[in-house]
Amino acid sequence: MSDKPKIFITRNIPDQPLQRAKELFDVEQWEDDWNIPRDELLKRVAGKDGLMTLLTEKVDGELLDAAGPQLKIVANFAVGFDNIDVPACTERGVLASNTPEVLSETTADLAFALLVSAGRRIAEGDRFLRAKTPWVWGPLMMQGQDIWGSTLGIVGFGRIGQAVARRGRFGFNQKIVYYDVRRASSEVEAELGAEFREFDALLAEADFLSVHVALTPETRHLFSTEQFKKMKNTSVIVNTARGPVIDEAALAAALQTGEIFAAGIDVFEKEPEVNEELLKCENAVIIPHLGSASYGTRIAMGELATDNLEAVLLENRPGPTLLNPEVFKG
Ligand code: DGY
Repeated sequence: MSDKPKIFITRNIPDQPLQRAKELFDVEQWEDDWNIPRDELLKRVAGKDGLMTLLTEKVDGELLDAAGPQLKIVANFAVGFDNIDVPACTERGVLASNTPEVLSETTADLAFALLVSAGRRIAEGDRFLRAKTPWVWGPLMMQGQDIWGSTLGIVGFGRIGQAVARRGRFGFNQKIVYYDVRRASSEVEAELGAEFREFDALLAEADFLSVHVALTPETRHLFSTEQFKKMKNTSVIVNTARGPVIDEAALAAALQTGEIFAAGIDVFEKEPEVNEELLKCENAVIIPHLGSASYGTRIAMGELATDNLEAVLLENRPGPTLLNPEVFKG
């Protein structure tokens, strides 16, 4: 029997971090691209010292208790950690970690791709041709919104929000306005030429609006009918953060009535379900939660999750990206 710490990995992950994890630990894994059923998960975590979880696994008191008192760390393979009940981990002396920074640029790339695609009707044009719709070039055909020189509003001005702003400012000469519960430093504001706005003022001013807030009780349905009414009829909203930040039914209605021009949506309120009305909107670009989905970034996320497990389970030091470092006893 191996005397290595035992970990459970809840899905197939890229080979590079998987092989490293296998060298370091006694690894049990749900070897599938589909998520593990909850009852199976509760069985498989029993007796493990560490878990590598995804955003599809709810890490709550029930799961932690099913793992048992020897559990030391839950390393989430995601920057968002709304799937983890961090206080429940802390109460039980279990560390939790996430994967910040390594995915910021990749997610910002995708947010910008959605912004361009929704504003310039790229996905719609692609569907149009594939449907073999008869057409001839015309001045009024499929007009979109100019990105160059427009105003980009960022809601949630953390690492990813700032990376999107950088693309807008330096790639597309956009004016950057932002809202966050915390003002950015004057250095960051100066670098990006970014100006703070109150939330409602931002809604009224932005031509493009990109959402980068964490999901919390305060940000759930931050965007609903009232907010869409305050936005320009020509505006485009992009969400690569978490689905429930936008009231999806209200978004579909705003897109259908022309309250706003278009949307680029990567994340969904009841993921993996997508609101039926939203599916009908030609002016919505919808993709299946691909923000961090590049080969390199998915390896980096796996490596960072493994770094956290290694630090805590083998080196008796705090992991690099702990969410509750106060739990670390040494
Ligand atoms: C995250 O990391 O939170 C993303 O949603 C998936 O990369």
